[in-house]
Amino acid sequence: MHRRLITPGALAAASLLLAIPASAADYQPGAPGAGDAYYPNYGNGGYDVSHYDLRLKYRPATDELEGTATIRARTTEDLSRFDLDFLLDVGEVRVNGAKASFATSGEHELEITPATPLRRGTPLTVVVRYSGVPSTKSAYGFSTWHRTPDGAIAADEPESAWWWYPSNDHPSDKATYDVSVQVPDGTQAISNGTLLPTRSKQGWTTYTWRQHKPQATYLTTLAVGKFDITTGKTSTGVPIINAYSKDLGTYDRAARASLERTGEIVDWLSGYLGRYPFDSVGGYVPNTTTSYALETQTRVYYSPKQFAKGANPSVVVHELAHQWYGDSVSLKGWKDIWINEGFARYAQWLWSEHEGEGTTQELADQVYASHPADDPFWTVRPGDPGPDDQFDIAVYDRGALAVQALRDEVGDKAFFALLKGWPKEHAYGNASVADFRAYAERVSGKPLAALFDTWLFQPSKPAARGAVSATQTPAAAAPPKSWQKIAATNDIHAG
Ligand code: TRP
Ligand code: ZN
Repeated sequence: MHRRLITPGALAAASLLLAIPASAADYQPGAPGAGDAYYPNYGNGGYDVSHYDLRLKYRPATDELEGTATIRARTTEDLSRFDLDFLLDVGEVRVNGAKASFATSGEHELEITPATPLRRGTPLTVVVRYSGVPSTKSAYGFSTWHRTPDGAIAADEPESAWWWYPSNDHPSDKATYDVSVQVPDGTQAISNGTLLPTRSKQGWTTYTWRQHKPQATYLTTLAVGKFDITTGKTSTGVPIINAYSKDLGTYDRAARASLERTGEIVDWLSGYLGRYPFDSVGGYVPNTTTSYALETQTRVYYSPKQFAKGANPSVVVHELAHQWYGDSVSLKGWKDIWINEGFARYAQWLWSEHEGEGTTQELADQVYASHPADDPFWTVRPGDPGPDDQFDIAVYDRGALAVQALRDEVGDKAFFALLKGWPKEHAYGNASVADFRAYAERVSGKPLAALFDTWLFQPSKPAARGAVSATQTPAAAAPPKSWQKIAATNDIHAG
Protein backbone atom coordinates (compact mmCIF):
# COMPACT_ATOMS: atom_id res chain seq x y z
CA MET A 1 0.00 0.00 0.00
CA HIS A 2 1.11 3.54 -0.80
CA ARG A 3 1.31 5.87 2.12
CA ARG A 4 -0.41 9.21 1.72
CA LEU A 5 -0.54 12.30 3.82
CA ILE A 6 -3.92 12.42 5.52
CA THR A 7 -5.53 15.83 5.81
CA PRO A 8 -7.91 16.62 8.67
CA GLY A 9 -10.73 16.76 6.10
CA ALA A 10 -9.92 13.32 4.80
CA LEU A 11 -9.83 12.04 8.36
CA ALA A 12 -13.30 13.36 9.05
CA ALA A 13 -14.57 11.80 5.84
CA ALA A 14 -12.94 8.51 6.76
CA SER A 15 -14.54 8.44 10.18
CA LEU A 16 -17.90 9.13 8.55
CA LEU A 17 -17.27 6.19 6.25
CA LEU A 18 -16.47 3.96 9.23
CA ALA A 19 -19.96 4.52 10.56
CA ILE A 20 -21.49 3.11 7.41
CA PRO A 21 -21.71 -0.70 7.48
CA ALA A 22 -19.63 -2.37 4.81
CA SER A 23 -21.40 -4.46 2.24
CA ALA A 24 -21.07 -8.24 2.56
CA ALA A 25 -18.59 -8.25 -0.30
CA ASP A 26 -16.10 -6.30 1.82
CA TYR A 27 -15.71 -9.20 4.21
CA GLN A 28 -13.10 -11.71 3.16
CA PRO A 29 -11.83 -14.93 4.74
CA GLY A 30 -8.69 -14.41 6.84
CA ALA A 31 -5.54 -15.91 5.31
CA PRO A 32 -4.78 -19.53 6.27
CA GLY A 33 -1.16 -18.54 7.03
CA ALA A 34 0.66 -15.67 8.72
CA GLY A 35 2.92 -15.20 5.69
CA ASP A 36 6.07 -16.80 7.09
CA ALA A 37 8.74 -17.12 4.38
CA TYR A 38 9.58 -20.70 5.43
CA TYR A 39 6.20 -21.97 6.62
CA PRO A 40 3.55 -20.03 4.69
CA ASN A 41 0.62 -21.88 6.27
CA TYR A 42 1.70 -21.57 9.89
CA GLY A 43 -0.37 -19.09 11.83
CA ASN A 44 -3.24 -17.22 10.22
CA GLY A 45 -4.25 -13.81 9.03
CA GLY A 46 -6.90 -11.31 10.07
CA TYR A 47 -6.71 -11.25 13.85
CA ASP A 48 -4.35 -10.83 16.76
CA VAL A 49 -4.58 -12.98 19.90
CA SER A 50 -4.00 -11.45 23.33
CA HIS A 51 -4.81 -14.36 25.66
CA TYR A 52 -5.32 -18.14 25.69
CA ASP A 53 -7.25 -19.71 28.54
CA LEU A 54 -6.93 -23.50 28.28
CA ARG A 55 -8.93 -25.83 30.53
CA LEU A 56 -7.81 -29.38 29.88
CA LYS A 57 -8.30 -32.90 31.17
CA TYR A 58 -5.80 -35.61 30.25
CA ARG A 59 -5.90 -39.39 30.74
CA PRO A 60 -2.36 -40.80 30.53
CA ALA A 61 -3.53 -44.39 30.12
CA THR A 62 -5.40 -43.73 26.89
CA ASP A 63 -3.87 -40.44 25.70
CA GLU A 64 -7.29 -38.79 25.69
CA LEU A 65 -7.27 -35.02 25.90
CA GLU A 66 -10.44 -32.99 26.43
CA GLY A 67 -10.43 -29.25 26.52
CA THR A 68 -12.00 -25.87 26.26
CA ALA A 69 -9.90 -23.08 24.83
CA THR A 70 -11.08 -19.52 25.34
CA ILE A 71 -9.16 -17.22 23.05
CA ARG A 72 -9.30 -13.45 23.33
CA ALA A 73 -8.35 -11.66 20.14
CA ARG A 74 -9.06 -8.63 17.96
CA THR A 75 -9.72 -8.63 14.25
CA THR A 76 -7.24 -6.75 12.08
CA GLU A 77 -9.35 -7.00 8.89
CA ASP A 78 -13.00 -7.22 7.92
CA LEU A 79 -13.54 -10.97 8.16
CA SER A 80 -16.16 -13.34 6.80
CA ARG A 81 -14.31 -16.17 8.53
CA PHE A 82 -10.90 -16.93 10.05
CA ASP A 83 -8.71 -19.93 10.81
CA LEU A 84 -7.06 -21.43 13.85
CA ASP A 85 -4.36 -24.09 13.59
CA PHE A 86 -5.48 -27.32 15.24
CA LEU A 87 -5.62 -31.11 14.81
CA LEU A 88 -7.95 -32.48 17.51
CA ASP A 89 -11.68 -33.08 17.10
CA VAL A 90 -13.80 -29.99 17.62
CA GLY A 91 -17.25 -30.28 19.17
CA GLU A 92 -18.35 -26.67 19.28
CA VAL A 93 -17.10 -23.18 18.48
CA ARG A 94 -18.57 -19.95 19.77
CA VAL A 95 -17.57 -16.47 18.69
CA ASN A 96 -18.63 -13.69 21.05
CA GLY A 97 -21.20 -16.02 22.58
CA ALA A 98 -22.85 -17.10 19.32
CA LYS A 99 -22.47 -20.52 17.83
CA ALA A 100 -20.14 -20.50 14.83
CA SER A 101 -19.87 -23.07 12.08
CA PHE A 102 -16.52 -24.71 11.48
CA ALA A 103 -14.71 -27.00 9.07
CA THR A 104 -11.23 -28.39 8.68
CA SER A 105 -8.99 -27.85 5.68
CA GLY A 106 -5.36 -28.21 4.67
CA GLU A 107 -2.89 -29.84 7.03
CA HIS A 108 -3.96 -28.10 10.23
CA GLU A 109 -6.57 -25.43 9.54
CA LEU A 110 -9.73 -25.07 11.56
CA GLU A 111 -11.94 -22.67 9.56
CA ILE A 112 -14.39 -20.77 11.72
CA THR A 113 -17.33 -18.93 10.23
CA PRO A 114 -19.04 -16.67 12.76
CA ALA A 115 -22.82 -16.15 12.62
CA THR A 116 -22.25 -12.59 11.42
CA PRO A 117 -19.19 -11.18 9.63
CA LEU A 118 -16.68 -9.31 11.73
CA ARG A 119 -15.67 -5.69 11.22
CA ARG A 120 -11.99 -4.86 11.53
CA GLY A 121 -11.06 -3.96 15.11
CA THR A 122 -13.73 -6.15 16.71
CA PRO A 123 -12.81 -7.74 20.04
CA LEU A 124 -13.29 -11.51 19.86
CA THR A 125 -13.87 -14.19 22.41
CA VAL A 126 -13.54 -17.53 20.66
CA VAL A 127 -14.46 -20.63 22.64
CA VAL A 128 -13.45 -23.99 21.20
CA ARG A 129 -14.57 -27.24 22.85
CA TYR A 130 -12.57 -30.24 21.77
CA SER A 131 -11.33 -33.73 22.49
CA GLY A 132 -9.11 -36.30 20.88
CA VAL A 133 -6.15 -38.61 21.10
CA PRO A 134 -3.19 -36.40 20.12
CA SER A 135 -0.86 -39.31 19.30
CA THR A 136 -3.21 -40.35 16.48
CA LYS A 137 -2.98 -36.99 14.73
CA SER A 138 -0.37 -35.81 12.30
CA ALA A 139 0.23 -32.91 9.93
CA TYR A 140 2.67 -33.04 7.03
CA GLY A 141 3.06 -36.73 7.92
CA PHE A 142 4.54 -36.30 11.38
CA SER A 143 3.68 -35.82 15.02
CA THR A 144 5.69 -34.15 17.75
CA TRP A 145 3.35 -35.17 20.58
CA HIS A 146 5.48 -37.39 22.81
CA ARG A 147 3.85 -40.03 25.01
CA THR A 148 5.78 -41.24 28.03
CA PRO A 149 5.12 -44.30 30.25
CA ASP A 150 3.10 -42.10 32.64
CA GLY A 151 1.95 -39.15 30.52
CA ALA A 152 2.81 -37.03 27.52
CA ILE A 153 4.67 -33.92 26.44
CA ALA A 154 4.17 -31.07 23.98
CA ALA A 155 7.56 -29.39 23.43
CA ASP A 156 8.92 -28.99 19.95
CA GLU A 157 9.89 -26.40 17.40
CA PRO A 158 8.49 -24.97 15.22
CA GLU A 159 5.47 -27.30 15.57
CA SER A 160 3.97 -28.41 18.87
CA ALA A 161 0.82 -26.43 19.59
CA TRP A 162 -1.70 -27.95 17.23
CA TRP A 163 -1.64 -31.32 19.01
CA TRP A 164 -3.03 -29.82 22.18
CA TYR A 165 -4.64 -26.41 21.72
CA PRO A 166 -6.08 -24.33 18.87
CA SER A 167 -4.00 -21.26 18.15
CA ASN A 168 -2.64 -18.71 15.76
CA ASP A 169 0.50 -20.80 15.54
CA HIS A 170 3.21 -18.35 14.59
CA PRO A 171 5.70 -16.57 16.88
CA SER A 172 4.63 -13.18 15.51
CA ASP A 173 1.36 -13.45 17.48
CA LYS A 174 2.35 -13.68 21.13
CA ALA A 175 -0.19 -13.81 23.94
CA THR A 176 -0.54 -14.45 27.66
CA TYR A 177 -1.71 -17.84 28.94
CA ASP A 178 -3.66 -19.61 31.64
CA VAL A 179 -3.19 -23.35 31.35
CA SER A 180 -5.27 -25.45 33.69
CA VAL A 181 -4.96 -29.24 33.49
CA GLN A 182 -6.87 -31.97 35.29
CA VAL A 183 -4.83 -35.13 35.74
CA PRO A 184 -5.37 -38.26 37.83
CA ASP A 185 -4.36 -37.82 41.51
CA GLY A 186 -0.65 -38.63 41.93
CA THR A 187 0.17 -37.27 38.48
CA GLN A 188 1.41 -33.72 37.85
CA ALA A 189 0.94 -31.30 34.98
CA ILE A 190 3.79 -28.91 34.14
CA SER A 191 3.50 -25.77 32.04
CA ASN A 192 4.85 -22.23 31.82
CA GLY A 193 4.96 -19.46 34.38
CA THR A 194 3.76 -19.54 37.94
CA LEU A 195 1.78 -22.33 39.59
CA LEU A 196 -1.49 -21.35 41.22
CA PRO A 197 -2.84 -23.46 44.10
CA THR A 198 -3.73 -27.00 43.05
CA ARG A 199 -7.18 -28.44 43.67
CA SER A 200 -8.17 -32.07 44.09
CA LYS A 201 -11.61 -33.55 43.56
CA GLN A 202 -12.93 -37.05 42.97
CA GLY A 203 -9.64 -38.58 41.92
CA TRP A 204 -8.50 -35.68 39.74
CA THR A 205 -6.01 -32.93 40.56
CA THR A 206 -6.04 -29.62 38.73
CA TYR A 207 -2.78 -27.77 38.05
CA THR A 208 -3.15 -24.17 36.94
CA TRP A 209 -0.23 -22.32 35.40
CA ARG A 210 -0.22 -18.65 34.58
CA GLN A 211 2.02 -16.77 32.15
CA HIS A 212 1.28 -13.09 32.17
CA LYS A 213 4.04 -11.99 29.83
CA PRO A 214 3.54 -12.48 26.07
CA GLN A 215 4.56 -15.94 24.95
CA ALA A 216 4.92 -17.51 21.50
CA THR A 217 2.79 -20.58 20.74
CA TYR A 218 5.78 -22.91 20.28
CA LEU A 219 7.19 -21.80 23.64
CA THR A 220 4.06 -22.92 25.42
CA THR A 221 4.63 -26.38 26.83
CA LEU A 222 2.63 -29.10 28.52
CA ALA A 223 3.96 -32.13 30.34
CA VAL A 224 1.89 -34.68 32.22
CA GLY A 225 3.57 -37.35 34.30
CA LYS A 226 4.82 -38.22 37.75
CA PHE A 227 7.22 -35.48 38.72
CA ASP A 228 9.20 -34.43 41.75
CA ILE A 229 8.88 -30.64 41.93
CA THR A 230 11.56 -28.50 43.60
CA THR A 231 11.45 -24.77 44.31
CA GLY A 232 13.92 -22.00 45.02
CA LYS A 233 14.72 -18.38 44.21
CA THR A 234 17.31 -16.51 42.21
CA SER A 235 19.38 -13.88 44.04
CA THR A 236 16.93 -11.22 42.89
CA GLY A 237 13.96 -13.23 44.18
CA VAL A 238 12.63 -14.76 40.96
CA PRO A 239 10.88 -18.01 41.97
CA ILE A 240 12.43 -21.17 40.53
CA ILE A 241 10.30 -24.24 39.80
CA ASN A 242 12.04 -27.35 38.48
CA ALA A 243 10.41 -30.73 37.86
CA TYR A 244 12.05 -34.13 37.48
CA SER A 245 10.26 -37.22 36.30
CA LYS A 246 10.30 -39.84 39.06
CA ASP A 247 11.39 -42.24 36.34
CA LEU A 248 14.77 -40.75 35.34
CA GLY A 249 16.84 -43.68 36.61
CA THR A 250 20.53 -43.14 35.97
CA TYR A 251 19.93 -39.66 34.52
CA ASP A 252 18.40 -38.35 37.73
CA ARG A 253 21.55 -37.27 39.52
CA ALA A 254 23.14 -35.40 36.59
CA ALA A 255 19.82 -33.79 35.67
CA ARG A 256 19.44 -32.37 39.18
CA ALA A 257 23.10 -31.32 39.36
CA SER A 258 22.46 -29.28 36.20
CA LEU A 259 18.97 -27.80 36.71
CA GLU A 260 19.62 -26.93 40.34
CA ARG A 261 22.12 -24.39 38.99
CA THR A 262 19.30 -22.49 37.26
CA GLY A 263 19.30 -19.62 39.79
CA GLU A 264 23.06 -19.19 39.69
CA ILE A 265 23.04 -19.22 35.88
CA VAL A 266 20.17 -16.71 35.63
CA ASP A 267 22.14 -14.43 37.97
CA TRP A 268 25.26 -14.81 35.85
CA LEU A 269 23.42 -14.30 32.54
CA SER A 270 21.72 -11.19 33.92
CA GLY A 271 25.16 -9.58 34.09
CA TYR A 272 25.43 -9.83 30.30
CA LEU A 273 21.79 -9.72 29.16
CA GLY A 274 20.11 -7.49 31.74
CA ARG A 275 17.30 -8.14 34.16
CA TYR A 276 15.62 -11.56 33.76
CA PRO A 277 12.45 -10.78 31.76
CA PHE A 278 9.92 -13.13 33.43
CA ASP A 279 8.60 -13.73 36.92
CA SER A 280 9.28 -17.42 37.12
CA VAL A 281 12.06 -19.67 35.91
CA GLY A 282 13.05 -23.32 35.87
CA GLY A 283 12.96 -26.43 33.79
CA TYR A 284 11.66 -29.95 33.63
CA VAL A 285 13.11 -33.30 32.72
CA PRO A 286 10.48 -35.81 31.64
CA ASN A 287 11.02 -39.54 31.08
CA THR A 288 11.28 -39.25 27.33
CA THR A 289 13.54 -40.76 24.70
CA THR A 290 14.03 -37.53 22.73
CA SER A 291 17.48 -36.02 22.88
CA TYR A 292 17.03 -32.26 22.60
CA ALA A 293 16.36 -29.36 24.92
CA LEU A 294 13.96 -26.53 24.12
CA GLU A 295 13.71 -23.02 25.53
CA THR A 296 10.02 -23.23 26.48
CA GLN A 297 9.31 -19.93 28.19
CA THR A 298 10.22 -19.84 31.89
CA ARG A 299 10.10 -23.65 32.02
CA VAL A 300 12.77 -25.18 29.82
CA TYR A 301 12.32 -28.65 28.40
CA TYR A 302 15.38 -30.91 28.88
CA SER A 303 15.63 -34.43 27.53
CA PRO A 304 17.32 -36.81 29.99
CA LYS A 305 19.88 -37.59 27.28
CA GLN A 306 21.25 -34.05 27.64
CA PHE A 307 22.70 -35.40 30.89
CA ALA A 308 23.97 -38.71 29.54
CA LYS A 309 27.60 -37.73 30.11
CA GLY A 310 27.01 -36.15 33.51
CA ALA A 311 26.00 -32.70 34.65
CA ASN A 312 25.69 -30.26 31.75
CA PRO A 313 25.36 -26.66 32.94
CA SER A 314 26.26 -25.51 29.42
CA VAL A 315 22.86 -26.62 28.07
CA VAL A 316 21.19 -24.79 30.97
CA VAL A 317 23.10 -21.66 29.94
CA HIS A 318 21.97 -22.10 26.32
CA GLU A 319 18.28 -22.54 27.13
CA LEU A 320 18.23 -19.79 29.75
CA ALA A 321 19.98 -17.37 27.36
CA HIS A 322 17.03 -18.00 25.04
CA GLN A 323 14.72 -16.50 27.67
CA TRP A 324 16.15 -13.13 26.56
CA TYR A 325 17.12 -14.05 23.00
CA GLY A 326 14.13 -15.89 21.52
CA ASP A 327 11.49 -15.81 24.23
CA SER A 328 11.22 -12.21 25.43
CA VAL A 329 12.49 -10.96 22.07
CA SER A 330 11.01 -13.40 19.58
CA LEU A 331 11.76 -13.76 15.93
CA LYS A 332 9.49 -12.02 13.42
CA GLY A 333 9.73 -14.95 11.03
CA TRP A 334 11.47 -18.31 11.23
CA LYS A 335 14.20 -17.04 8.93
CA ASP A 336 15.39 -14.87 11.84
CA ILE A 337 16.50 -17.97 13.75
CA TRP A 338 20.11 -16.71 14.02
CA ILE A 339 19.02 -14.24 16.70
CA ASN A 340 17.89 -17.19 18.79
CA GLU A 341 20.58 -19.75 18.18
CA GLY A 342 23.65 -17.65 17.41
CA PHE A 343 23.29 -15.79 20.70
CA ALA A 344 22.29 -18.79 22.83
CA ARG A 345 25.40 -20.54 21.53
CA TYR A 346 27.49 -17.43 22.18
CA ALA A 347 26.26 -17.43 25.78
CA GLN A 348 27.70 -20.95 26.09
CA TRP A 349 31.02 -19.56 24.86
CA LEU A 350 30.93 -16.82 27.48
CA TRP A 351 30.16 -19.48 30.09
CA SER A 352 33.11 -21.56 28.89
CA GLU A 353 35.36 -18.56 29.40
CA HIS A 354 33.83 -17.93 32.83
CA GLU A 355 34.51 -21.54 33.82
CA GLY A 356 38.09 -21.35 32.53
CA GLU A 357 37.40 -23.96 29.88
CA GLY A 358 38.27 -21.97 26.78
CA THR A 359 37.74 -18.34 25.76
CA THR A 360 35.20 -17.08 23.25
CA GLN A 361 38.18 -16.33 21.01
CA GLU A 362 39.46 -19.89 21.26
CA LEU A 363 36.01 -21.30 20.52
CA ALA A 364 35.60 -18.99 17.53
CA ASP A 365 38.99 -20.07 16.23
CA GLN A 366 38.04 -23.69 16.73
CA VAL A 367 34.83 -23.33 14.71
CA TYR A 368 36.67 -21.47 12.00
CA ALA A 369 39.55 -23.91 11.79
CA SER A 370 37.58 -27.13 12.07
CA HIS A 371 35.63 -26.51 8.85
CA PRO A 372 37.75 -26.31 5.68
CA ALA A 373 36.54 -23.98 2.94
CA ASP A 374 34.91 -26.83 0.99
CA ASP A 375 32.94 -28.06 4.03
CA PRO A 376 29.17 -27.75 3.29
CA PHE A 377 29.03 -26.11 6.72
CA TRP A 378 29.87 -22.82 4.97
CA THR A 379 27.06 -23.14 2.44
CA VAL A 380 24.53 -22.58 5.24
CA ARG A 381 23.70 -18.90 5.57
CA PRO A 382 22.79 -18.36 9.26
CA GLY A 383 21.03 -15.08 8.43
CA ASP A 384 18.53 -16.88 6.19
CA PRO A 385 19.29 -20.61 6.27
CA GLY A 386 16.09 -21.86 4.64
CA PRO A 387 13.60 -24.22 6.29
CA ASP A 388 15.67 -27.36 5.70
CA ASP A 389 18.73 -25.92 7.42
CA GLN A 390 16.92 -23.83 10.00
CA PHE A 391 18.47 -25.80 12.86
CA ASP A 392 21.65 -26.84 11.09
CA ILE A 393 24.73 -26.83 13.28
CA ALA A 394 26.01 -23.90 11.20
CA VAL A 395 23.17 -21.70 12.47
CA TYR A 396 24.61 -22.29 15.95
CA ASP A 397 28.36 -22.42 15.37
CA ARG A 398 28.76 -20.16 12.36
CA GLY A 399 26.07 -18.05 14.00
CA ALA A 400 28.15 -17.61 17.17
CA LEU A 401 31.23 -17.00 15.03
CA ALA A 402 29.32 -14.12 13.43
CA VAL A 403 28.65 -12.74 16.91
CA GLN A 404 32.38 -12.90 17.64
CA ALA A 405 33.12 -11.12 14.34
CA LEU A 406 30.63 -8.41 15.30
CA ARG A 407 32.32 -8.03 18.70
CA ASP A 408 35.67 -7.69 17.00
CA GLU A 409 34.32 -5.07 14.61
CA VAL A 410 32.57 -2.82 17.15
CA GLY A 411 34.82 -3.40 20.16
CA ASP A 412 33.94 -4.78 23.59
CA LYS A 413 32.32 -1.62 24.92
CA ALA A 414 29.74 -1.31 22.14
CA PHE A 415 29.36 -5.09 21.87
CA PHE A 416 28.44 -5.65 25.51
CA ALA A 417 26.21 -2.58 25.43
CA LEU A 418 24.23 -3.96 22.53
CA LEU A 419 24.21 -7.52 23.91
CA LYS A 420 22.42 -6.14 26.96
CA GLY A 421 20.52 -3.40 25.17
CA TRP A 422 18.79 -5.54 22.55
CA PRO A 423 16.62 -7.59 24.95
CA LYS A 424 15.52 -4.33 26.56
CA GLU A 425 14.89 -2.55 23.26
CA HIS A 426 12.49 -5.26 22.06
CA ALA A 427 11.34 -6.79 25.36
CA TYR A 428 8.24 -9.00 24.96
CA GLY A 429 8.12 -8.24 21.24
CA ASN A 430 9.37 -9.49 17.89
CA ALA A 431 12.37 -8.49 15.84
CA SER A 432 14.29 -9.54 12.74
CA VAL A 433 17.92 -9.92 11.71
CA ALA A 434 17.51 -6.66 9.79
CA ASP A 435 16.28 -4.98 12.99
CA PHE A 436 19.30 -6.36 14.81
CA ARG A 437 21.70 -4.95 12.25
CA ALA A 438 20.04 -1.54 12.43
CA TYR A 439 20.26 -1.63 16.22
CA ALA A 440 23.92 -2.71 16.21
CA GLU A 441 24.74 0.11 13.78
CA ARG A 442 22.96 2.62 15.99
CA VAL A 443 24.68 1.50 19.20
CA SER A 444 28.14 1.15 17.66
CA GLY A 445 27.91 4.07 15.25
CA LYS A 446 29.45 1.85 12.56
CA PRO A 447 28.10 0.71 9.21
CA LEU A 448 27.79 -3.08 9.44
CA ALA A 449 26.24 -4.12 6.13
CA ALA A 450 29.42 -5.74 4.81
CA LEU A 451 30.13 -7.54 8.06
CA PHE A 452 26.62 -9.00 8.28
CA ASP A 453 26.71 -9.98 4.63
CA THR A 454 30.02 -11.82 4.96
CA TRP A 455 29.35 -13.68 8.19
CA LEU A 456 25.62 -14.34 7.93
CA PHE A 457 24.57 -14.23 4.30
CA GLN A 458 27.35 -15.56 2.06
CA PRO A 459 27.30 -19.29 1.24
CA SER A 460 31.07 -19.53 1.62
CA LYS A 461 33.81 -19.44 4.23
CA PRO A 462 34.66 -15.83 5.14
CA ALA A 463 38.27 -14.77 4.86
CA ALA A 464 39.98 -14.84 8.23
CA ARG A 465 40.07 -11.49 9.91
CA GLY A 466 40.81 -9.92 13.26
CA ALA A 467 39.28 -12.03 15.94
CA VAL A 468 39.36 -15.17 13.86
CA SER A 469 42.89 -16.37 13.39
CA ALA A 470 43.92 -17.52 9.95
CA THR A 471 46.76 -19.68 11.10
CA GLN A 472 45.00 -22.52 12.86
CA THR A 473 44.38 -25.78 11.12
CA PRO A 474 42.11 -28.48 12.56
CA ALA A 475 45.09 -30.76 13.06
CA ALA A 476 47.05 -28.14 14.96
CA ALA A 477 44.29 -26.95 17.23
CA ALA A 478 43.44 -28.88 20.36
CA PRO A 479 39.81 -27.96 21.03
CA PRO A 480 39.05 -25.93 24.15
CA LYS A 481 38.03 -28.02 27.15
CA SER A 482 34.38 -26.94 26.83
CA TRP A 483 34.15 -28.04 23.18
CA GLN A 484 32.61 -31.45 23.84
CA LYS A 485 30.24 -30.11 26.51
CA ILE A 486 28.98 -27.44 24.15
CA ALA A 487 28.61 -30.07 21.45
CA ALA A 488 26.38 -32.08 23.79
CA THR A 489 23.76 -29.40 23.26
CA ASN A 490 23.90 -30.34 19.58
CA ASP A 491 22.03 -33.55 20.39
CA ILE A 492 19.03 -31.61 19.18
CA HIS A 493 20.33 -32.61 15.79
CA ALA A 494 20.18 -36.29 16.59
CA GLY A 495 16.66 -36.18 18.02
N1 TRP B 1 15.88 -24.46 20.08
C1 TRP B 1 16.41 -25.71 20.56
C2 TRP B 1 17.74 -25.36 21.18
O1 TRP B 1 18.57 -24.81 20.51
C3 TRP B 1 16.61 -26.73 19.51
C4 TRP B 1 15.44 -27.61 19.22
C5 TRP B 1 14.62 -28.14 20.09
C6 TRP B 1 15.02 -28.10 17.99
N2 TRP B 1 13.68 -28.88 19.49
C7 TRP B 1 13.91 -28.90 18.22
C8 TRP B 1 15.46 -27.93 16.71
C9 TRP B 1 13.24 -29.53 17.19
C10 TRP B 1 14.79 -28.57 15.68
C11 TRP B 1 13.68 -29.36 15.92
O2 TRP B 1 17.93 -25.56 22.33
ZN1 ZN C 1 18.87 -22.99 21.06
